[in-house]
Amino acid sequence: MQNRENFGSNTVAIMALAGSAIGLGNIWRFPYMVGEHGGAAFIVIYLLASLLLSLPIMMSETVIGRRSHSNTFGAMRSLAPGSKWHYLGLLTVISPLIILSYYSVVGGWSIDYLLRSLTGSFLNKDASLLSAEFAGAISSPLKPIIFQTVFLLACALVVSAGVKSGIERFNKLTIPLLFVLILAIMIYSLTLPGAMRGVEYLVKPDFSKITPSTVSYAVGQSFFSLSLGVGTVLTYSSYIGKRENILMSGLGTTVFDLLFALIAGFAIMPAVFAAGIEPGAGPGLIFETLPFIFSSMGEATPILSSVVAVLFFVTICVAALTSAISMYEVGVAYLVEEKGVGRKKAVWLLFAGIWALGALCSLSFGALSGVKLFGLTIFNFCDTLTSNFLMMFGALLFVLFAGWKMKKGDVRDEFSNGGKFKFNDAVFGTFYFLLKYVAPVGMVMIFVTNFIGS
Ligand code: PHE
Repeated sequence: MQNRENFGSNTVAIMALAGSAIGLGNIWRFPYMVGEHGGAAFIVIYLLASLLLSLPIMMSETVIGRRSHSNTFGAMRSLAPGSKWHYLGLLTVISPLIILSYYSVVGGWSIDYLLRSLTGSFLNKDASLLSAEFAGAISSPLKPIIFQTVFLLACALVVSAGVKSGIERFNKLTIPLLFVLILAIMIYSLTLPGAMRGVEYLVKPDFSKITPSTVSYAVGQSFFSLSLGVGTVLTYSSYIGKRENILMSGLGTTVFDLLFALIAGFAIMPAVFAAGIEPGAGPGLIFETLPFIFSSMGEATPILSSVVAVLFFVTICVAALTSAISMYEVGVAYLVEEKGVGRKKAVWLLFAGIWALGALCSLSFGALSGVKLFGLTIFNFCDTLTSNFLMMFGALLFVLFAGWKMKKGDVRDEFSNGGKFKFNDAVFGTFYFLLKYVAPVGMVMIFVTNFIGS
């Protein structure tokens, strides 16, 4: 592939992969999941799921991406020529674009709320008023689409600047910033009176809440959070240079993502409990509950609480952007490398499609709320289709590809950079066993549990 760019170093590659991983999944989904499914007990299951299933899947995508130095479709074609595997390549061009369309709607809400926090609009409002404002904000026909457009435009600008000058530069700048911001919010949150109940909520194991489906929730959360099964990890890994140690890239990304999720949990839940409210699910937590907290804290310390509110919504916007950019790049890499379209043109072609589907998702909270696909609104349909099915399916196929289609020697060669990195045979042996047997069997079991459960 002529003129293909690579990330400048492995550290930068880890930042980009962590940028993809750290997103809305860490900030609102993780803390809520932990609380609902047994606190610390869920965290233990989540850690095991990340180690036994997610890490082998992440490494499968990394191996395929770096070995082929190609987009998802080209990777399958070059590593399994003449086979049907390129359909997996195509599927994983489409699924991140569907995620991006509804993700950009939530990204748009974040920009809206960032602007509201800048004007101090949460101060001195009660919970029901803020809930009504949120319902009004997302169901209005035009405003959310304008914010969604702004969010997508920001992604488009970064992606069109290229792998090094766009994606690399943006992540290098924002990932350290995200950690500083979330740590600052955590410190503020932990100093609020009554914060310890929130800490308890996160760390106290409640085994009565552990059911067979807890495992599938933990796995689903881990996949979504690490951006697995939709080709983003593969595409970013295809920009990792031949000399880098990809085991480090995979491990580094997993550790950063987990750390961020835990810090976000300790930033959000103590504040929720300090305000004396029960944590709610989904977008409501960040767009209704937290504004209420910021406004109620604001009575005593209006300036500090306003600053924290602004920092919080900056964090959400930036985290959502770095994830959205990775989804965008999958489609762009495909169009550029497989269809010979120029990068800028590819960006704008995709923009049109993502924007249109995103606008439909946005309208499904208002004018199109009556339009249902399989009983779900357009937004929920896109979410369910991707997180419950396409992501899982893609992840299973990637791991089968690396474990059963690729030769063991080739996988080993990628891990060790042609024998340059000497590592214990037992380390590779264990890892390969996870990749070849444990991850696929585990995935099939999750599928079965999900089907029985649904
Ligand atoms: N990992 C991202 C998050 O936690 C979401 C994501 C999914 C990003 C799939 C890229 C691909 O929000």
